[in-house]
Parts: sequence; structure tokens; C-alpha cells
Amino acid sequence: MRIEGLRVAGETELLHGVSLAVGAGEAVGLVGESGSGKSLTLRAVMGLLPRGLRVTGGTVEVDGRAAMIFQDPLTFLDPLVRVGDQVAEVCRVVAGLSRRASRVRALELFADVRLDDRAVLARRYPHQLSGGQRQRVLLALALAQEPDLLLCDEPTTALDVTVQREVLDLLASLRAERGLSLVFVSHDLAVVAQLCDRVVVLRDGEVVEAGATRDVVARPHHPYTRRLLDAVLPLPALAGGRDG
Ligand SMILES: Nc1ncnc2c1ncn2[C@@H]1O[C@H](COP(=O)(O)OP(=O)(O)O)[C@@H](O)[C@H]1O
Ligand SMILES: [Mg+2]
Repeated sequence: MRIEGLRVAGETELLHGVSLAVGAGEAVGLVGESGSGKSLTLRAVMGLLPRGLRVTGGTVEVDGRAAMIFQDPLTFLDPLVRVGDQVAEVCRVVAGLSRRASRVRALELFADVRLDDRAVLARRYPHQLSGGQRQRVLLALALAQEPDLLLCDEPTTALDVTVQREVLDLLASLRAERGLSLVFVSHDLAVVAQLCDRVVVLRDGEVVEAGATRDVVARPHHPYTRRLLDAVLPLPALAGGRDG
């Protein structure tokens, strides 16, 4: 994927010429404080900008198919449809499978995202799953679209640290197994550093720093990046207990 000079505006301009490139099989982190424009960047790529916002400049090229996963799977999953059926439906449409074959395929995808008790789980509704299970279902839905590029918008932010780690490991293995390219969005530079080769730092709709993750983490140039690094010291009292 190649984004060049991307501008997005509503009543005022919100993205002021964002550029970002992701090579085949590469994982790039997009970090920045809340409100810096991370989600708008991904949404612009997917053509999913909120109502009232539009692309006013720049270009986006994606070589292949892109899929996206979100911070809160509940806003994306249909509350009234069993999760197995939701994944099967995407398989049916995207891969042109029969109803029966798409159900089998959905269970394979559940295995790919390391869900256990798959037959039981497939019959559950979204609210009957834990936060970690829901995020895995969302990932299965994304994989059902057979993407070359996966855009991840803070997919682990709402999860406790243990489950967060598991989902990060899963993304790393899927990337290795399938040669998936990843863009991983987070406000947490430490999380991004676990997964990404390169990192792009966004502030108020502008890229302020970009480079190899280890260079940026070891020698941040911009004071804003330094602040992001300082902000990720763990707060044990806040970690955990939110995956339920
Ligand atoms: N639908 C919208 N209408 C107007 N402004 C918006 C809308 N969505 C986001 N914004 C603004 O765009 C900026 C970037 O938002 P966003 O990309 O969601 O930030 P991030 O994902 O980095 O937290 C913020 O200032 C936000 O207030
Ligand atoms: Mg966001």
C-alpha cells in the first residue's frame, strides 16, 4: 500500500498530507495520541470515512485486497447472528462457497485464529464471548475476506495485557504464515514495537517522525515521540480485568 499526501477534511482539515508506505509482508505501526488522525487514515484507505468527512487530496494505492479490524468488535459484529454464521456468510460471498462449505470454512478460520471449542463457539452470539474471543472472531471475519493487507485499528486496546499479548502473537504468526502486510494502529508505542518493523508517528493529522522501530524507540527525534515513549510505562493497577 502507498498513501501519499492524504488530506481529509470536514468543516476543517483533519489530515494534512499523510504519507505512509507498506511493502509486501511488512508490518508498519501508526502511532499517535488520541485524536491524531490514526483511525481517519485507515478509514480513508477503506473508503469508510464517517459521514461529513471526505478525501480532499493525495492518493491511496493498494495492491491487492485490504481488510480492517477495529478496537471494539461489538460495534462491528451483528448482535443477532451467531458468530459462526457471520463468518460463514462472508466466506459464502467472497469465496463463492455453498452454505455447507462456508460453514466448514468458518470453522477452519476459527482454528486459524486459535479459537478452542470451535463448534460450540460458532453457535454463540457476540455478547456471549469474552473480549479476546470477540477480537479473534473479528480477525476470522477479516481473514474470510482473503486480504493481502490487514489494517488493525487498536485491536488490543480494550483487552487486558495477557490477552493483548496473545492477539499480538497471533497477528505476528498470521503475518508469517500468510505473508500478510499489516498496518497496526495504536496510541501505545510499546505495543507497536512488539510487532512492527517500521513506525510512523502521527500528530494532529501530520507525520512528525518515521523510521525503523528500533531506531525510533532508541533515538526518538521529535519531542512528541519521546513523550509517547514516556507515556507507555506500565501502570499495573490499570492492567487486567477488562476482558470479560
Ligand atoms: N466524524 C467526524 N467529524 C468531525 N471530526 C472528526 C470526525 N471523526 C474524527 N474527527 C476528528 O478528526 C481527528 C482525528 O480523529 P481520529 O482519526 O479518530 O483520531 P485517532 O484515531 O488518532 O484517535 C480528531 O480531531 C477528531 O476529533
Ligand atoms: Mg482511533
